Amino acid sequence: MSEPDGAPEQTRPSALPPVGAEPAKRVRVQHLRAAKANGERLTMLTAYDLPTARIFDAAGVDMLLVGDSYGDNMLGHDSTIPVTMEELLPAVRAVARGAKRAMVVADLPFGSYEASPQQAMASAARMLKEGGAHAVKFEGGRRVAEHVHLLTSSGVPVVGHIGFTPQSENILGGKRVQGRGDEAAEQVAADAKALEEAGAVAVVLEMVPAAVAARVTQELTIPTIGIGAGPSCDGQVLVWLDMAGMGGWSPRFAKRFGQVGAELDRAARAYVSEVRDGVFPAQEHTYWG
Ligand code: KIV
Repeated sequence: MSEPDGAPEQTRPSALPPVGAEPAKRVRVQHLRAAKANGERLTMLTAYDLPTARIFDAAGVDMLLVGDSYGDNMLGHDSTIPVTMEELLPAVRAVARGAKRAMVVADLPFGSYEASPQQAMASAARMLKEGGAHAVKFEGGRRVAEHVHLLTSSGVPVVGHIGFTPQSENILGGKRVQGRGDEAAEQVAADAKALEEAGAVAVVLEMVPAAVAARVTQELTIPTIGIGAGPSCDGQVLVWLDMAGMGGWSPRFAKRFGQVGAELDRAARAYVSEVRDGVFPAQEHTYWG
């Protein structure tokens, strides 16, 4: 409905803590559900270190995911599978130190939660106690519903992750869209519902057809966070290197919002050239006395 002439436009107050407030107010689980109810889209980006965490937090990213994509994006592995708790924990600690407003979500690495709800609890406890995370994320639907239930009833917010689940790429036959066809779509919807019923605070939908993501988003009261799942999700997540144009290859579903890699390349070449030519350090960079 349009406003009458001259009347100020009515805007609903945000359900999310303000960006840039001092002191910052943290994004918490109640804000996620309220944002969905309010029709506000949520933002999530991966972060793996302090400088990027500070920048994304100040920019208003609601959730910083210390994803196991650390393995392929930062450690040079071919997939997320080799990543360990010992590798991920220092990254979680650094991101948690840099995030004043954002909720920090730590991924549970492959092999650190699947065996039992108790194993998941032990790993999640480390992410919260040693890493300073505010929530954990792990992959799977109905098969991990008991794990989600134990964690949430023990005080650990859980973000689910279904659709294409990278830690299972070997059994899924590679990076493939999941949920195509009626039967597969039902499986995705049933997994999402099971996660919500178990207490998950949000669910990542990765590489599922847009119509399936739209249906799941409509059926859940917790937010869906899409990655390659179309525009109807309650929020979006991207690996930051894909988002910022830092890496080489990026998946079709990612959009480059910058050319950070090209700018870093330019800066490094300028540095090399100025040092070689004796231009840097100049007068102003030097202590003479
Ligand atoms: O590890 C990660 O970066 C993820 C996102 C792709 C959702 O799980």
